[in-house]
Amino acid sequence: MYFRPGLHKEAGLSFSPIKAIVSPRPIGWISSCGKDGSINLAPYSYFNAISELPPMVMFSSAPSGNAQHKDSLRNVIETEEFVVNVVSAALGDAMNITSADLAYGQNEFTAAGLEMADCNTVKVPRVAAAPAALECKLWKVIELPKPETGAETGIGVMVIGTITGIHIADETVKDGKIDVTSYQPLARLGYMDYARINDVFAMPRPAVK
Ligand SMILES: Cc1cc2nc3c(=O)[nH]c(=O)nc-3n(C[C@H](O)[C@H](O)[C@H](O)COP(=O)(O)O)c2cc1C
Repeated sequence: MYFRPGLHKEAGLSFSPIKAIVSPRPIGWISSCGKDGSINLAPYSYFNAISELPPMVMFSSAPSGNAQHKDSLRNVIETEEFVVNVVSAALGDAMNITSADLAYGQNEFTAAGLEMADCNTVKVPRVAAAPAALECKLWKVIELPKPETGAETGIGVMVIGTITGIHIADETVKDGKIDVTSYQPLARLGYMDYARINDVFAMPRPAVK
């Protein structure tokens, strides 16, 4: 089967398969604050680390369907800070609750029964129960180009941030390394599907000539 983006229905697929093809994706559970002090938390799986040096991450906000930015994007533009919280399998339900489209200013930490913890380099709170969290300062906001189809819903926007502080729950560290099987990071697949990482193996690099 072959088709151009946006034409999946003509190819017999009920939903766009892009999320399922590019999977698994890590989930950036983004906490942020508005300039009025309101606190926000929401999951973004168009998310990744993009560089180790400088240490940088990105997430992309899809068009919200109206003229407004999603709350996370609005906050990052207003205060130029955000935190990426890692989603363990145990936090999956809470993460899902925070994806609800609450009115601006309603705190998803409270809605999901999550405790907040302070950060060091940003005013934004982090998820206390997250196995790791990255404090970030905004580097760039990039408006993505209008798509060939579906442009009427608005444009996507990519946020790139620099990591300025790293939190790791001590109990996840074994022999000087993070053991992801201790918390089983949740990954987003296509549709409403998820995977948890619990089967890890190492592959040493080929020997240098
Ligand atoms: C696992 C998961 C991943 C998501 N990834 C994205 C994403 O990458 N981009 C996006 O715009 N929305 C994504 N969403 C939807 C947002 O979380 C949702 O629109 C949320 O209400 C946005 O919250 P905010 O307005 O408080 O930022 C995702 C939802 C879930 C459950």
